[in-house]
Amino acid sequence: MKIAIMGAMPEEIAPILEKLGTYKTTQYAKNNYYEASYKGVDLVIAYSKIGKVFSTLTATTMIEHFGAEKLLFSGVAGAISPALKVGDLVVATKLSQHDLDITAFGHPFGYVPEGSVYVETDKELIALSKLVAHEMNKNVKEGVIATGDQFVANEERKNWIGATFSADALEMEGASVAVVCDALDVPFFILRAISDAADMDASFSFDEFLQTSAQESAEFVMKMVDKLAR
Ligand code: ADE
Repeated sequence: MKIAIMGAMPEEIAPILEKLGTYKTTQYAKNNYYEASYKGVDLVIAYSKIGKVFSTLTATTMIEHFGAEKLLFSGVAGAISPALKVGDLVVATKLSQHDLDITAFGHPFGYVPEGSVYVETDKELIALSKLVAHEMNKNVKEGVIATGDQFVANEERKNWIGATFSADALEMEGASVAVVCDALDVPFFILRAISDAADMDASFSFDEFLQTSAQESAEFVMKMVDKLAR
């Protein structure tokens, strides 16, 4: 089995590469892809760069060029739900693009014809994450994640996204990865650790907690890989 592990930023995959120690680096489509064999499974690892376009390219490449059969995304997010604090882990149940807007034509936010407002994640991988959370004695929350090409540092925008999509957290890649995996029929899992509250202090909080939160998320994803390897 070949599993893709994807992040958006170097900090999001660094803990995974560190854990592996040795891997093969391949350049493709102006990005680096890292391949390794880990406990009998083949891994392809990459960070896409930030945003929906780069993450679409990387997810597609991991599946179509490198042959990934499952995709696990690890990274950080801004909290919308007041119940989510810095360092908390959120597993996406479904994802939506909060900046997709053809409402001028009477469609809901996040919708284009022949698409859907939400893309659901794989139920088996969510079930596996529950097992991992139990074994790690971690309180992992499930929720809706909203994605857009904006770093949200504004209470009003955050609240609008929360209200419009019933979203618990927001970030900049999950929904585009979801669209790719759904279209190509590849089971996928999107995990995020909270780095900020998407409010006026978000950029400072992000800078302060990116590394530690990314590490939290990466550790959890590697435990998922341990389980998938069995
Ligand atoms: N990822 C982490 N925090 C974020 C924020 N506030 N906005 C968008 N993406 C994020």
